[in-house]
Formats: sequence, structure tokens, C-alpha cells
Amino acid sequence: MSDLSVGSLDRPRITYEDRERLHGHGGALVWFTGLSGSGKSTIANAVDHTLYTQQRHSVILDGDVVRTGLCNDLGFSPNDRMENIRRIGEVGRLFAQTGTIALVAVIAPYGASRDAVRKAMRPGRFIEVHVDAPLSVCEARDPKGLYKKARAGIIKNFTGLDAPYEVPIEPELRLDTSVLSPDEAAAKVIAVLQSRELI
Ligand code: ADX
Repeated sequence: MSDLSVGSLDRPRITYEDRERLHGHGGALVWFTGLSGSGKSTIANAVDHTLYTQQRHSVILDGDVVRTGLCNDLGFSPNDRMENIRRIGEVGRLFAQTGTIALVAVIAPYGASRDAVRKAMRPGRFIEVHVDAPLSVCEARDPKGLYKKARAGIIKNFTGLDAPYEVPIEPELRLDTSVLSPDEAAAKVIAVLQSRELI
């Protein structure tokens, strides 16, 4: 009979350090939080592009996309949003563990939910980026026409209008996209990754 206990074959033998050596950079979770239309996805895509051109491994977890698959059972009640953040945080953490830079773009309106994800990460591996455009600017952009629908009462509990957004207290970065271009904003995120020696 084979002895599977010998050498603990069922336990992980590859460490974080091994995986990061393989990739040539550190794993991290960069969390873009902010109102709908603030520019989270745009900046995440710009960062993703820069990382790709530098031969870094990254992945985007975008709220709009994740909600069509992993979280397609969830709506926009407080409990469902918390569960959305919990799941995305967990997936992001697993990616970061493999040495990937996970770029999360979700509203994540609750500070406690974001803090719970931060706590689950290794120190220094959670980078909270508040994509901070004024509500008036996000509403004027209204790329999906959702603010208009929310104002008309067709969509209820819309973040920033009749649902809360808790502004991050101490994010690693605050990017005002009414002032910064997507490339300027992305460069600031890359600079944080560099200053933490993750890339
Ligand atoms: S979160 O609050 O749970 O973090 P998430 O980022 O996944 O939200 O999804 C937000 C996206 O869902 C918005 O960009 C918008 O396209 C869409 N959406 C639909 N209904 C709402 C709503 N009531 N509040 C905010 N966003 C909504």
C-alpha cells in the first residue's frame, strides 16, 4: 500500500517566493474603488497594458464582467454587494498568491468590505486606489446611461444617488480622473508597484 503521508505529498511544496521567482515579480491585489463612471476600468486597462508591455503577469477582475459569471446570482442590495466584494477579493487574493498582479475594478462601496480584503492579504500586497471623480463628473460622463435611469427612478439603490459610497480613509492612492488622464493615472499606479518593489 502506498504511504501518502511520507513527505507530506498532499501539502503545498511551492512557496510564494518560488512562484514570484518564476514570474520575475511580486503578486499583488490592486483595488480600484469608486463611483460608476469614475474611470476604474479605464485605468485598470491602462495599467494592465503597461504591465503586459513590461512582460509582467496581470489579470483584470472587472465588476461588470464578474457579475455576468462568478457573481451572476447577486444584485445590488448591501448584502449582495458585500458578497460580491468578498468573492472578488478572494479570487484576487488567489491570483496574487500565484504571483500575478490582480487589478480589481469594482465600486466596492463599503469600507469594512474593502478592509476585510486588505486584512486577508500579505502586508504591502493590497493597494487601494480611490478613483475619485466628483459625482457630477461621473454623472455627466454617464457612459452606460445608468445615472439617467437612476434619476428617472428606473434603477433603484444606485451608488452615489440613493445608495452610499464610503470614501476610502487611507488609500494608497487617490486619483482624481477629472484632472488626470488615464495614462497619467496609470503611471501613478505603476509607480506605487515600483516603490513597493513588486515590479
Ligand atoms: S459593487 O457595488 O457590488 O461593488 P460592481 O462594481 O460589482 O458594484 O458593479 C457596478 C456596476 O453595475 C456599475 O458600473 C453599473 O454598470 C452596474 N449597476 C447596476 N445597478 C447598479 C446600482 N444600483 N448601483 C451601482 N451600479 C449598478
